[in-house]
Amino acid sequence: MFLTSRRVIIVVFVSVVVLLVLAPDVQAAVTGACSNCHTMHNSQDGSVLDATVNDTLLVSSCIGCHSSSGSETIVNFGPTRIPIVFNTTGYPTKPLAGGNFYDVAAAGGNIDSHGHNVYGISNQDSDLDHAPLDLWGGGCTNSCHASLAMPKSSMTDTQIDGCKICHQKYKHHGTDIAEGSMETEESGWYRFLGGHDARYGGGIVMLTSYVAGIEDADWEQDPTLGHNRYQGAVTNHNDNVLLQTTHSISAFCTGCHAQAHMNTEDAASGVWLRHPTMIRLPTTGEFADYNPETDYDASVPVGWLDPTTPTRSDAVVTCLSCHLVHGSQYPDMLRWDYSAMTAGGGDNETGCFKCHSSKDS
Ligand code: HEC
Ligand code: HEC
Ligand code: HEC
Ligand code: HEC
Ligand code: HEC
Ligand code: HEC
Repeated sequence: MFLTSRRVIIVVFVSVVVLLVLAPDVQAAVTGACSNCHTMHNSQDGSVLDATVNDTLLVSSCIGCHSSSGSETIVNFGPTRIPIVFNTTGYPTKPLAGGNFYDVAAAGGNIDSHGHNVYGISNQDSDLDHAPLDLWGGGCTNSCHASLAMPKSSMTDTQIDGCKICHQKYKHHGTDIAEGSMETEESGWYRFLGGHDARYGGGIVMLTSYVAGIEDADWEQDPTLGHNRYQGAVTNHNDNVLLQTTHSISAFCTGCHAQAHMNTEDAASGVWLRHPTMIRLPTTGEFADYNPETDYDASVPVGWLDPTTPTRSDAVVTCLSCHLVHGSQYPDMLRWDYSAMTAGGGDNETGCFKCHSSKDS
């Protein structure tokens, strides 16, 4: 009797504390019973210890939690919403901001060009033996510059594999950030994204190699409710833009695709050899038609020099303006079907034409 009521009191007390701590939860930190996600001895019901044990006593791997055999892209798990990046039975109709890995998986047909091939989801890319447009050659063989689908044990230069290569700052128990505010170190930065400074030999991860930004609460599952605000940067065509100083989403990509932006072959000429990224979206000419400050189109996103104060003149082109990062349904991980972008093909407001508004007519 006594024990029971004391237990009730403890339970009530614990719940109140949990509620107090978690109630103003806007996003970011996980919620729910520890046992939903962690296992203490990894041997419940006498089962044999799993040799491929997950980090931090988790019941699942990154992919295990973030994939689903259904078509939903946000799965409710007790009080927790799990963002799904890999739907194993079909490309979802409402993919999250990063797209979906379905097409690069065996079930999706192993279409390597539709996404990043990631360890645990797909084999190594059969066409690409390293990141295209990388400053390839110097000591990065068997590293994440070669493939993101290599098991850690085969790598010579890194200590992590799969999802963690990009999401180096993961912090599921990080602090919650008020909606509309910039992510912080305590919250795991923008979508837990970050890079490393030097080689992994010493295991050094730079504290300053993170991506900044403002996160949409439903990962853009429904972009009419709100959208991410990416950190942009403006640079000269041949500058080596560093993640450590700009914290921009494009600098994150150029960590592995350095020449997507740079003109390293001809640094002096000032001519763009590749489509410009990290430049302001001009407010004049054909670009005047797209005003992302007042009428943002999440299928052709831009970055902002100051995401807390999005200003039309400070809107910049980013890698994500044209690409999805996990995977898409089109070659080169493009957001839209490039082969359908036909000059003079009639009224069209999608893809290239969102910015190049006069090239359709
Ligand atoms: C036990 C289940 C579980 C595991 C394992 C797990 N996650 Fe998560 N993850 C979640 C949940 C739940 C959320 C959503 C938290 C929230 O409400 O914002 C989340 C959110 C995320 C986000 C989005 C963060 C944001 O800012 O919205 C990323 C990125 C992520 N996880 C990456 C990873 C990586 C990388 C791993 C492996 C190291 C991993 N997850 C392992 C459950 C899991
Ligand atoms: C919805 C899933 C989820 C729930 C519920 C959850 N965790 Fe976690 N926890 C994770 C994930 C995923 C990681 C590993 C990735 C990371 O650190 O971001 C983690 C990491 C940890 C870590 C190591 C990293 C750190 O932040 O210190 C501890 C300790 C931890 N959890 C304790 C707990 C305890 C105690 C509870 C219950 C009060 C709990 N967790 C509930 C998902 C969860
Ligand atoms: C090549 C780098 C890269 C790899 C590899 C990668 N991610 Fe991501 N991920 C990103 C970026 C960049 C974003 C932010 C996308 C945005 O906001 O447009 C993101 C966003 C997310 C989100 C938030 C939902 C969304 O779509 O915005 C989750 C959850 C997530 N990633 C989990 C994973 C898991 C699990 C894996 C491994 C299966 C993984 N990621 C592999 C770069 C990567
Ligand atoms: C950690 C290194 C790394 C980062 C960071 C990274 N990539 Fe990649 N990327 C690769 C590798 C390796 C390949 C080649 C193998 C593959 O496709 O998985 C690749 C392939 C690609 C391809 C060609 C896809 C194909 O298979 O034909 C595109 C497009 C691309 N990345 C865009 C991006 C964008 C955009 C970002 C930033 C949001 C980014 N990458 C960040 C390593 C990276
Ligand atoms: C204006 C749209 C646009 C922007 C911005 C853009 N890309 Fe691309 N990207 C494309 C298109 C279209 C292709 C298809 C091939 C082509 O036309 O060159 C492509 C192809 C690629 C490839 C594959 C190249 C190959 O050889 O297989 C990679 C890698 C890539 N982009 C990375 C990036 C990165 C990193 C950034 C940011 C620095 C970026 N892209 C910015 C449109 C864009
Ligand atoms: C997010 C906006 C945006 C999108 C989407 C976009 N562009 Fe651009 N594009 C620009 C900007 C900005 C410039 C530079 C204009 C300037 O400074 O005069 C540019 C310049 C160009 C140039 C001229 C480059 C040069 O050397 O002068 C070409 C060609 C081009 N884009 C083709 C495309 C194609 C093809 C697509 C679709 C795959 C595309 N763009 C998508 C914004 C965009």
